[in-house]
Amino acid sequence: MRDIDIATAAARAAGEIVAAGFGTHRTTDYKARNDPVTEVDRAAEAAITRIISEARPDDGIVGEEGTSRAGERTWLIDPLDGTVNFVHGLPQVSVSIGLYRGRDPLLGVVYDPLRDELFAAVTGGGATLNGKSIRVSTTTDPARALVVTGFPYDHHEHAAAYVATIEALLRKVNGIRRLGSAALDICYIAAGRIDAGWEYELKPWDIAAGLPILLEAGGRVTTPSGRVMTPYDRHIVSSNGALHEMLRSVVEETMPDHLRG
Ligand code: IPD
Ligand code: CA
Ligand code: CA
Repeated sequence: MRDIDIATAAARAAGEIVAAGFGTHRTTDYKARNDPVTEVDRAAEAAITRIISEARPDDGIVGEEGTSRAGERTWLIDPLDGTVNFVHGLPQVSVSIGLYRGRDPLLGVVYDPLRDELFAAVTGGGATLNGKSIRVSTTTDPARALVVTGFPYDHHEHAAAYVATIEALLRKVNGIRRLGSAALDICYIAAGRIDAGWEYELKPWDIAAGLPILLEAGGRVTTPSGRVMTPYDRHIVSSNGALHEMLRSVVEETMPDHLRG
């Protein structure tokens, strides 16, 4: 079995669990004040881990809900991206699975089980949505651009600081969205539905799958200072390429002080 088939099978298995639990899940715990987790997050991670472990017992796996195993290659998994949406019954959630050798992406799969949309890429092989090739948008004018973002879980403490970037961009772009699944945000830029995005304080499993998908779709993704993005960088600027410098420079200028350094 190819790696991409394993990732796809695991994402679909977890997606079935997420879809079955949507609107019917029983318990919501809080890992932190603003950071919910349900039995569905944990069951989906268990399903992914079982499938990957059976197929690739020597690989490492790191999952948001606690799976941590070292290996020469590492599967970075978010079993349910968009848990706040999920607990509210808002249908914008995904399963995210990326495979890395060190910091180099080998593949990514992001699955939206409620729309049955599967975004996938193998490095060097192009990006697809349900098997069809996808490309980033051709938007060059900031005034025509639709931009996506998200807020870190500590927004109660730092609300004003997070609003600074939004205020600067509201003066330039057509619109800003906060959709609630960072993994899907990146895939929507890859598919040309959204032109660019930024977010602070992400975790490796939020972006690991999205990075190769966006790069293979012709997009650009860097840190706010313009360095090549890896899953271990917390602050992300992603785009169709043409709008990258506009967004990156605004984010670099308005980034909250407590995130610098
Ligand atoms: C969250 C989502 C959200 C982003 C948060 C993430 P989770 O992941 O991706 O869009 O703004 O930073 O933590 O907790 O739902 O897996
Ligand atoms: Ca996540
Ligand atoms: Ca999650």
